[in-house]
Amino acid sequence: MERIAVITSGGDAPGMNAAIRAAVRTGIGRGVTVFGVRNGYEGLMEGSLFEADSIFVGGIIGRGGTVLRSGRSERFKTAEGVAAGAEHLKSRGIQGAVIIGGDGSLRGARELSLTSGIAVIGVPASIDNDIPGTATSIGFDTAINTAVEAADKIRDTAYSHDRVFVIEVMGRQNGFIAVETGLASGAEAILIPEVPYSLDDICVRLTSGHDKGKKSSIIIVAEGATSAAKVRDVIAEKTGYEVRYLVLGHMQRGGNPTAWDRVLATRFGSAAVQALMAGRTREMVGFDGKQITYTPLDDVLSTRRTVDPEKLLLAEVMAQ
Ligand code: F6P
Repeated sequence: MERIAVITSGGDAPGMNAAIRAAVRTGIGRGVTVFGVRNGYEGLMEGSLFEADSIFVGGIIGRGGTVLRSGRSERFKTAEGVAAGAEHLKSRGIQGAVIIGGDGSLRGARELSLTSGIAVIGVPASIDNDIPGTATSIGFDTAINTAVEAADKIRDTAYSHDRVFVIEVMGRQNGFIAVETGLASGAEAILIPEVPYSLDDICVRLTSGHDKGKKSSIIIVAEGATSAAKVRDVIAEKTGYEVRYLVLGHMQRGGNPTAWDRVLATRFGSAAVQALMAGRTREMVGFDGKQITYTPLDDVLSTRRTVDPEKLLLAEVMAQ
């Protein structure tokens, strides 16, 4: 394999740049010409490729976002879109691609490889951490640290005013960010889309805590469960407490990656290129808690990663 491409696709995640840097420098170190693709699959279909050198990736390991830029593409979900992208790779003699992104991006990678024969290795990057085949995806650690920092700051003002705060975090389909943020910030309740909840029960919990002398309460809501504004209205009405809410939104996707995300992304980016060079394809690199793993994209895309219910129970015990 003499020519490979690197693409970031889908929602950006802090640490993507570290993965790009690792893929480029590992490739160059092995004598491979590495192309960067701008703007995700949209850029691929337009042929927006350039030769990435070591200087291009200099100084980006600690920067959030992606220097290649990213996006979600509806057209790449069609056979015509995939064929257009493959053509631009083939016309440059590119035999392999490292695709850095989440579920939709990995789906596109699989299609690209199946229809064109181009080798692909996926690198899991999503703040949601919902990708099977890896304990952690790039960006998750940074996102939860951002959310926990916000929750800690809110706790200070909540305590000073004897208030309840509802904090909405990202997670349209799942509650991974909410659970970790809630556990780490000592939240009184965590609402996630996967588990039914009762606002009546939560009000009882808040009242009992208040009666015991609690001076603040924090509720973490995953955006896919409900909205923080709705929870605020119901709790304010039922308890009579002063309740405020905030939506953390896209700030969870930005910011300098944590050391964990930088190292994870560096290992993933390098492992992906090494896998291509070893003749592997349609696999995703991952981390099982001990070492780098490779899982077929077929398996990654046909399973679901689920929140550990023990963590929710633990959060409830801690919130007494
Ligand atoms: O990156 C994943 C994610 O952050 C989800 O949690 C969120 O719902 C979604 O992306 C929002 O992204 P966008 O505004 O780019 O559609």
